Amino acid sequence: MTAPFAPAPETPVSHQLRHLEHGDGAALHALVRDGGGLDLNSPYAYVLGERFWADTSVVAVGPSGPEGFILGVTPPPDPTTLFVWQVGVAPEARGRGLGLTMLRWLVDTVGPRHLEATVTPSNTASRRLFAALARELGTDLAVSRWVEPDELGDVDHEPEDLHRIGPIAGPTG
Ligand SMILES: CC(C)(COP(=O)(O)OP(=O)(O)OC[C@H]1O[C@@H](n2cnc3c(N)ncnc32)[C@H](O)[C@@H]1OP(=O)(O)O)[C@@H](O)C(=O)NCCC(=O)NCCS
Repeated sequence: MTAPFAPAPETPVSHQLRHLEHGDGAALHALVRDGGGLDLNSPYAYVLGERFWADTSVVAVGPSGPEGFILGVTPPPDPTTLFVWQVGVAPEARGRGLGLTMLRWLVDTVGPRHLEATVTPSNTASRRLFAALARELGTDLAVSRWVEPDELGDVDHEPEDLHRIGPIAGPTG
């Protein structure tokens, strides 16, 4: 039986949060490859993120290097929305608030009116992460089906639900 989730006790690990820089792409690829839970894209895709989405993305650097990241993009049809493509935290750093801290940092630095992300229905940690952000921002969270397995060309892939948070008033303080 799987043990119920309990947040890790507070530890004095501190992370430096910053936008992506040249050279981060390989570290992000390694975090996804080693951490599990996310679709692994090519190393080139993470270099694209590092080059073109640096200002809408964040990496959290701990004592031993990058331990968390969010790749975000403002979709051309709506530059006031921040679309989170991937969020990942190294397994040893999970459950200590780093995912939520990175989301809040991005909201404060990018200043979107809405934040969107797609989540598979079975990903409890991710669903709770975005619910926690909406709660902290004191705003709404709407969930709707975004893509079905056949559209992904992979019947073994779960569907993805769009989580849309907002309207977001301003810096979270
Ligand atoms: C999803 C993920 C990024 C969350 O990061 P994290 O730093 O562990 O999350 P936080 O510690 O900031 O917790 C945020 C919320 O999620 C909850 N949560 C975190 N991990 C959880 C888990 N395994 N099960 C249930 N809830 C969980 C926390 O309790 C908190 O909610 P609360 O405020 O209501 O208590 C991390 O688990 C991860 O990298 N998973 C693998 C990759 C992935 O699935 N990415 C998301 C794809 S959309």
